[in-house]
Amino acid sequence: MTAQLNPRGDVAVLVPAAGAGVRLGPGRPKALRLLAGEPLLVHAVRGISFVPSVRTIMVAAPAAEVDAVRELLAPVAPVQVVPGGAERQASVAAALAAVPTGPEIILVHDAARALTPPMLIDSVAAAVRAGAAAAIPVLPVVDTVKEVTGDELVLRTVDRSRLRAVQTPQGFRRSVLTAAHAAADDPLTDDAGLVEQLGEPVTCIPGSEYAFKITRPFDLALAEHLLAESPGQATRTLSS
Ligand code: C5P
Repeated sequence: MTAQLNPRGDVAVLVPAAGAGVRLGPGRPKALRLLAGEPLLVHAVRGISFVPSVRTIMVAAPAAEVDAVRELLAPVAPVQVVPGGAERQASVAAALAAVPTGPEIILVHDAARALTPPMLIDSVAAAVRAGAAAAIPVLPVVDTVKEVTGDELVLRTVDRSRLRAVQTPQGFRRSVLTAAHAAADDPLTDDAGLVEQLGEPVTCIPGSEYAFKITRPFDLALAEHLLAESPGQATRTLSS
């Protein structure tokens, strides 16, 4: 029997959480690093659990930490935990393969985006429910962007007005994500990229600054600061 949140929900959320977190500096796997006294993964899963249409949460954990992650998340929400892979894409594929029949909308959400507002997760699912094959949250790029050579010489300046920084959760019709992973060869850094390779349309919706990815020590400090300023941020944004 699969652990479920809302048995009538139409959404499964895959949470790749098997990364080492090298860019955060030495320490535990990234999803288990502490933010305001709790692992990043706990914050991320709690946020997902506030979304009423979520039926299943499938976490891909570091292989050596599967039991520990199961114990850690038991008091937070009903989740299933599978061992992740060497690349993010393999971790997502492992979680996808374990989703039981039922949910027809699949979201993929990085554990590292620990402060993502539940409202954003809900909006991505709603875009797929409304007919999108794939929907991704994006923000405009604020910096000027330059393409450079391997020697750090500028090749050209890119027109930023048509560039978007892409976040998670990324949402997919189940059949689309399954086909995209089945056709994948080289690992990509997001799942929408695999869907693009299939030639399926990917719809952009407005992202949230709170959905930033905690990657470097500065990001962790920023997240600590935001939580100290507004501890109820995640729950409040669902009803706002
Ligand atoms: O590597 P990056 O910071 O982009 O990772 C994004 C997400 O993918 C993180 O939540 C990380 O834990 C996860 N990941 C994974 N398996 C890997 C590498 C990264 O689940 N092998």
